[in-house]
Amino acid sequence: MTLQAPSQNAVRAADPAAPRHVAIIMDGNGRWANERGMPRLSGHKAGTGNFHRVLRTFHERGVDFVTLYAFSTENWSRPPAEVSGLLSLLTAVIASSMDELHENNVRIRHLGELRHLPDDLAEAIRGAVARTGGNSGLELCVAFDYGGRAEIVRAVRRIVAAGTAPEQVTEELISANLYLPDVPDPDLIIRTAGEQRLSNFLIWQAAYSEYYHTPVYWPDFDAEEAERALAEYKRRRRRFGALPEEG
Ligand code: FPP
Repeated sequence: MTLQAPSQNAVRAADPAAPRHVAIIMDGNGRWANERGMPRLSGHKAGTGNFHRVLRTFHERGVDFVTLYAFSTENWSRPPAEVSGLLSLLTAVIASSMDELHENNVRIRHLGELRHLPDDLAEAIRGAVARTGGNSGLELCVAFDYGGRAEIVRAVRRIVAAGTAPEQVTEELISANLYLPDVPDPDLIIRTAGEQRLSNFLIWQAAYSEYYHTPVYWPDFDAEEAERALAEYKRRRRRFGALPEEG
């Protein structure tokens, strides 16, 4: 996998129209498994098989940040066996992918809460973030035990706790108190498996994101699908509430 910073710069120069940040709602693992008569967890496992290829494609096309929605605050209400399966799966993915990601200069970030997670998983996430903290290539942000509303509540609590006067509360201040304040807002949000909802994902940051959905289930979302999403993004005209430019 080539995820080094130099190639990133070369590609960005060649394709300045690429989104800088792509965020993905990985949906359809359960349906993928059901259709094959397999247990749901096999679908989640299959959903860990493609992410290296997808990351590589995005990075080669000039994307600097990829955020994956791996476990939401709402996912705790799934059956206990599925919840513990998902927690174990992430622990295993970190163990099996860390060396390769680190060698490829990927910086791993986490957004969400670590305090509800089993100690071994919380430690594995902390370890991955610390080990790759100095890397300068693609930033891979993993949303795990993440909810957009919880993130905004946390930001407001921090602002209130700091004794901030009401007139000093600005959009910039709220952005500065999110989990990863230095990560730019997503330019493109992709959701697989045909759903057309945001499901509490980056709800503050998504204010002007372009949204792309595909019927393809996440385990089948490959490099070709990633290219398709990028091609669609390039056709969009982003206006940020203003009028289109003339000409
Ligand atoms: C949604 O499919 C998917 C999830 C809730 C979990 C996604 C997590 C992984 C693929 C784990 C791997 C993490 C990384 C970092 C690659 P669903 O179960 O809601 O599917 P369904 O709607 O078809 O039931």
